[in-house]
Amino acid sequence: MSKYIHVSVAWPYSNGDLHVGHLAGAYLPADIFARYHRLKGNQVLMVSGSDAHGTPISVEADKRGVSPVEIFTKYHERFLLTQQKIGISYDLFTHTDTENHHQIAQEIFTLLLERGFLYLETQALLYSEKERRFLPDRYVEGECYICHYAGARGDQCDNCGNLLEATQLINPRSKNDPSDHLIVRESEHYFLDLSKFSGQLLKYLDKHEHHWRPNVVRFSRNFISEGLRGRPITRDIDWGVPVPLEGWEDKRLYVWFDAVMGYLTASIEWAKHTNQPDAWKHWWYNPDAEIYNFIGKDNIPFHTIIWPAELLGIDGIYNDATGISLPYDVPANEFMNIEGAQFSKSRNWAIWLPDILERYQPDAIRYYVAATFPETHDSDFAWDGFFNRVNGELLAAWGNLVNRMLSFAYKRFEGKVPVIDTLTDADKAMIARSEAAFEEVGSLIEQVRLREALQTAMSIVREANGYLDGRKPWQTIKDDPADAARAVYAILRVIDNLNLVLSPFLPFSAQAVHEYLGYDGQLFGEQHIEAYAENVRSHNVLVYDSSTAAGKWKKRALPQGQALREPKALYTKLDPEIIEQERAHLGAERVEHEIFV
Ligand code: MF3
Ligand code: ZN
Repeated sequence: MSKYIHVSVAWPYSNGDLHVGHLAGAYLPADIFARYHRLKGNQVLMVSGSDAHGTPISVEADKRGVSPVEIFTKYHERFLLTQQKIGISYDLFTHTDTENHHQIAQEIFTLLLERGFLYLETQALLYSEKERRFLPDRYVEGECYICHYAGARGDQCDNCGNLLEATQLINPRSKNDPSDHLIVRESEHYFLDLSKFSGQLLKYLDKHEHHWRPNVVRFSRNFISEGLRGRPITRDIDWGVPVPLEGWEDKRLYVWFDAVMGYLTASIEWAKHTNQPDAWKHWWYNPDAEIYNFIGKDNIPFHTIIWPAELLGIDGIYNDATGISLPYDVPANEFMNIEGAQFSKSRNWAIWLPDILERYQPDAIRYYVAATFPETHDSDFAWDGFFNRVNGELLAAWGNLVNRMLSFAYKRFEGKVPVIDTLTDADKAMIARSEAAFEEVGSLIEQVRLREALQTAMSIVREANGYLDGRKPWQTIKDDPADAARAVYAILRVIDNLNLVLSPFLPFSAQAVHEYLGYDGQLFGEQHIEAYAENVRSHNVLVYDSSTAAGKWKKRALPQGQALREPKALYTKLDPEIIEQERAHLGAERVEHEIFV
C-alpha cells in the first residue's frame, strides 16, 4: 500500500554558500530517503527553502555593507544551482520571503493570539546607544552560562545547543563592535506560551520515543523537564515577517517562529502549483501520513517542541477536520568536522559545495559523505578518507564491477545482453542475493540508518566481484562460450539489481548504468529551476518531477538479447595529489566563483 511520506529538510539561512556540513547533516540523508520512498511507490513530498529572515541574514548584510535582501537573493540563487548539481530532489525548494509564506505566517500568529496561546510581556533587552537600536540574537555574542563556551550567540549556544536569551550571556558584546557599551532597555514582545502544551507534548514524545534517535529523545526530554517557559516570538528588527498588528510596524516575527512554518507553507505553495490546491492535506491532515524532519542536532528543540506546539495551537486551520500532522520522526544528525576540527565560517575551515562540485563528480561526493554520515556521533570529512573511499571502494568495487562486465559483454556478445540456455545453481544464488538486497537495504533506509544501508549494499557489490573473479568468463569464453554467456548474464542481472539498490545514493551514475544496460528513459525525474509567479512578485524555485521513479524498487529481469550501449568509465580515478591540494584550501582565503550547471 502506498503511503504518504513528507520529507522536510532544515531551511538553510541564505547568508552564505552550502558546505559539506549542510549536506551531511540534512540534505543528503533527506534526498536518499525521498528517492528510496519514491522508488518504493510511496507518495513523497519533499520540501524546503531558503531561510530568508532574521539576524543571520542582516548581520551578514551589515558586515558587507549591503541590504539583507541582496544577501538573501544572492545565496538563494546559489542554493538552487548547487543543489541541482548535487542532485537534492526537492519537489519544491522555495524560500520564506514569498507572499504565500508571509501571509500564512501572519495568519498563524493571529490564530495563536486569538486562541490565547500568545501573551505580551515587557523584556529587558540589550540596546546599543551608539547604533540607536536593540541588538537581538546574533548581534550579540558572549559566554554561555550553561557550558561556558566563549562564542555563544544571543539566541543559542552552538556548543551545547541550548536556547538562550542575550541577557543571559556572560559578558555579552556587540557583534558589530565588541567595544560598544551595551545598556539594558525595555521593550514589549509576544511570547509563545509553551506551558499550555506541556501535556500534549509529553504525550507526543511518549508516543514516538521508541523509534526516535536517542539523542533526539534525550534533548527533547531535558528541554521539557527544565520547565516549558514562554518563548519570545517577536523582535526589534526590521528584516523579517511583519507583525500583523497596528503599532507593531517596527518589529518583526522571530525567524525561528516563522521558519519552521515553512514545512507547511511550502507544502501549500507546492499544491497551488499543481492542479489540486488541496493536495497538501494528504500529508498534513492524514493520520497515516508520516512527516520526517531532516535536521542537524542544533535544531532539535525547534522541531520536537516549538514547531509541534505551534501546530497543536493551530489545529483545524484551513480544514474542518482536526488532527494536523506533527513530525513523525526528527532524525537529527550530529556534526561533520573537517580534517579533525570544527567547521568555522569565519576561519574558512570549511568545504564549500560549489567549489568541490567543480572538481569532483557529484556521486563521488555523495558516496563519501553518505559513508561517513554522522548518524550516531560526530564524524570527520578528511581528504585522505575521501581519496581512499572513492578510489578504493566506489571505483574499485562498484565502478570496476560495472565497467569490466559491461565492456566485456559489449565487446564479446555483439553489444547485447547474452542469450542463454540455463543458469547454474551458483548463478541463481548470486542473483537471489542481489534481489534480497532490496528488502535488506530498504528496511535500513526506512529506519533512517543510511550509513549501514550503504555499507550493506556495498558488501553485496564485493560479493559480486568475488563471484565474477571465480567465474572468469574472460577465460571460459575460449573453451565453453555457453558457460561464459551464463556467467555474464548472471552478473549483468546482479548489476542491474544493485544499480537500483544504490540509486538513491548514486543517482547520476545509476542513470548511466541504466542506459548502458540498454534501458531507455529516466530512473528518476528531471529537476529544474522554475519561476513561480505569485500575484505581483515572482521567485525562482527548484522543482522535480518524481513520476518516473514510482514503483521501481523491485528485482529486475534484464531481457536477454537487449541491446547494450557502449559503456564509459563510471567514475574518475582520483590523483593522490588532491589530498594536499585540498587541505591547502582549508583556512585560506576563499574567492566565491560563479556556479555553472
Ligand atoms: N535556518 C536554520 C539553520 O540554518 C534552520 C531552519 S530549519 C526551519 O540552522 F525549519 F526552521 F526552517
Ligand atoms: Zn552552551
